[in-house]
Amino acid sequence: MIDAITASPSPYHAVETARARLRAAGFVECDLTEDLPDGPSRGFAASDGALVAWADPAEDAATTGFRIVGAHTDSPNLRVGSVPDVGAAGVRQVGIEVYGGVLANSWLDRDLGLSGRLVLADGSMPLVRIDEPWFRVPQLAIHLDREIRGDGLKLDPALHLTPTFGAGEPEEGALIGAVAAAADVDPGAVRSWDLMFHDLQAPALVGPAAEQLASARIDNQVSCFAALEAIVAADVARLAGTAVLVLSDHEEVGSSSATGAGGAMLEHLLERLSAAAGVDRVGHLRRLAASVVVSADGAHATHPNYEAKHRPEHPIRMNGGVVIKRNANQRYATDGRAEAFARRAIESAGVEAQVYVHRNDLPCGSTIGPITATRLGVPTVDLGVAQLAMHSAREVCGAHDIADLAAVVGAAFTV
Ligand code: CO
Repeated sequence: MIDAITASPSPYHAVETARARLRAAGFVECDLTEDLPDGPSRGFAASDGALVAWADPAEDAATTGFRIVGAHTDSPNLRVGSVPDVGAAGVRQVGIEVYGGVLANSWLDRDLGLSGRLVLADGSMPLVRIDEPWFRVPQLAIHLDREIRGDGLKLDPALHLTPTFGAGEPEEGALIGAVAAAADVDPGAVRSWDLMFHDLQAPALVGPAAEQLASARIDNQVSCFAALEAIVAADVARLAGTAVLVLSDHEEVGSSSATGAGGAMLEHLLERLSAAAGVDRVGHLRRLAASVVVSADGAHATHPNYEAKHRPEHPIRMNGGVVIKRNANQRYATDGRAEAFARRAIESAGVEAQVYVHRNDLPCGSTIGPITATRLGVPTVDLGVAQLAMHSAREVCGAHDIADLAAVVGAAFTV
């Protein structure tokens, strides 16, 4: 997990990490602009920050449903803007956009690197990453912020999150020039970019028994990793249907994009898998009617310093088992039928189950679950690993829960 999360500072890198793992396990990469292979297969297709992998059962691939597990590759962060070279007071800075619901305070006073991709004149999109501490967002000194004692820290994202980039006056092209040079790319060939910042502190196992994982991007690369390991380990002789892994981008901003769960990538790919298996449209819709989706994403552990923010009848513990998430208002997709399916998988995996329900007086977060259920018309369960500090630049989760989640996803492919 630590290797995968370290290798994946951006959604593009997360897809690259998954690509390498799938290739090593014998999955065949398919180009979406070409035909998929006929007959049962283990394959995958990737597009930007999204990836879909599949493993057909050894028998009856054309008539069984899909067992789909989804997770998201993106995490809230700070992203490089379209006019990156800014500055003030003799300090060079980088113009940013805030991506998703960041806990802004968590980005202060950290050594930041940068990653993502450059888009070149020839259409190629080399991945880049800079793991040197070129950037920081320094907090205002307490002596200059007297209100902080009474009112707490107030951060205006338009003013207070702009990272520094060394000393001097802003110089047009300086940032992209430096990034291109670090990536061994001619700066003149750069036409555009998708770049974002990451904390350089390495993930760590914390606690006296190393029982928790502290890291960036636990939401949701823990689920990406567990689901990926589950499909790689899936025994095609035991699959209850075609096992499908979908890693979507843009969940943190609502999933409405070509590579987000609101997009058509998964839907189109499932249809093409059926077509490649010789199944007509009605046959494909029958397969969908026999399908299940597992939406894997982070869950809120009960915070020891804020117990009152949680429902007492739903205590959630890190390393306390996989969390099934329910919300009557469908912010999580789980209904009774889907919960019963999840419990079957959890039992089969020999893992403990916990159930999370948000307080009625607080707005509940959401996942790719309701969106995927809406697009496909397939019963969906939302579940995942309990964590603290969701959307912080450094979150924490139970270290043992990761293998449990992989086991539950594996069971969901077979029960
Ligand atoms: Co998430």
